[in-house]
Amino acid sequence: TFNPTNIIVTGGCGFIGSNFVHYVVNNCPDVHVTVLDKLTYAGNPENIAGLPADRVELVVGDVCDAGLLDGLVPGHDAIVHYAAESHNDNSIAGPEPFLRTNVEGTFRLLEACRKYDVRLHHVSTDEVYGDLALDDPARFTEETPYHPSSPYSSTKAASDMLVRAWVRTFGVRATISNCSNNYGPYQHVEKFIPRQVTNILCGMRPRLYGDGLNVRDWIHTEDHSAAVWEILTRGRIGETYLVGADGERSNIEVLRAILRAFGLPEDGFDWVRDRPGHDRRYAIDPTKLRRELGWEPGHTDFDAGLAETIAWYRDNESWWRPAKEATEARYAAQGM
Ligand code: NAD
Ligand code: DAU
Repeated sequence: TFNPTNIIVTGGCGFIGSNFVHYVVNNCPDVHVTVLDKLTYAGNPENIAGLPADRVELVVGDVCDAGLLDGLVPGHDAIVHYAAESHNDNSIAGPEPFLRTNVEGTFRLLEACRKYDVRLHHVSTDEVYGDLALDDPARFTEETPYHPSSPYSSTKAASDMLVRAWVRTFGVRATISNCSNNYGPYQHVEKFIPRQVTNILCGMRPRLYGDGLNVRDWIHTEDHSAAVWEILTRGRIGETYLVGADGERSNIEVLRAILRAFGLPEDGFDWVRDRPGHDRRYAIDPTKLRRELGWEPGHTDFDAGLAETIAWYRDNESWWRPAKEATEARYAAQGM
């Protein structure tokens, strides 16, 4: 077992990164976290506000900044790398920042880990595997060939390849996880579930892309955090672990569940044009993670998790309201 006491979490002011910081503070009393975050449109220091100052420190900066990394990385035991441009629709409208943060940023962190002999866990996505047909009995495994579809997923695929190369060529101590779609608190209002929930809270109709039959494999972000912690501390160096919680659902099923939770009619939404290149279905086989590390998801009731998430957005309007208008204006410009 690897017992880090001083870790850097990149992207720790974003959705999944901040949930991981909360997880570490709540479950790992001996660990100090340095959050490195550029505070892009997706980063919000509120996500980690109120955590004990002796446990969590925020450094505002760019993972592409090699000079900053030279000053920050030495003395840390590990980096957990969440920082990324994460939204597919944005990557279609403007791919350039995805290349920079996702590819160059990962390269800079790998170089810093090599130079200062620091352990790295790289957080990636199931989207690197492309998509599956709706009627395909298969799910993604660690052996599935890479076949990314979008600018976002192709830059994540590139970042995974860099990590593998730095492990093999330079002996960097790294692991990779590829997780399915997360839901939970602190998710930006551009993403599917928060967008629909906050649309309803604003008196606007939800928006469904294409035919609504695309399938995503939903996992509560806290279960993702637990998996990342297990892989960081007990995973085998050089290995990839898929993270998923048997949560396959079509978008229209999820949307109808949201509408029901608000007591609204199930057809109370608008169909909008499809995302170009829209992946049909993602599905994770998490057998390796379960067998090797004994990880099990805690949030197995999706409807209960969704209800809690809806309640969080209802109770935290001051958190999401400032981003809502600009996000919807971006979508409107794309007819979505
Ligand atoms: P997010 O967009 O909510 O947060 C990204 C964070 O990274 C923000 O705080 C942002 O300010 C920061 N950031 C962006 N560019 C940076 C840079 N150059 N330097 C430093 N910080 C920078 O993203 P998320 O949904 O929380 O995803 C986090 C990670 O998890 C990403 O690597 C993503 O690929 C991966 N992932 C996401 C999901 C999902 O369902 N959202 C699923 C699997 C994997
Ligand atoms: O699979 C993991 C990935 O999940 C992560 O790597 C990404 O960072 C994360 O953003 C997410 O990607 P998706 O493209 O699956 O998530 P998104 O929330 O954008 O959309 C989920 C599904 O809902 C997708 O099929 C598109 C659809 N959709 C989305 C929005 C925003 C709609 O139908 N209407 C919408 O308004």
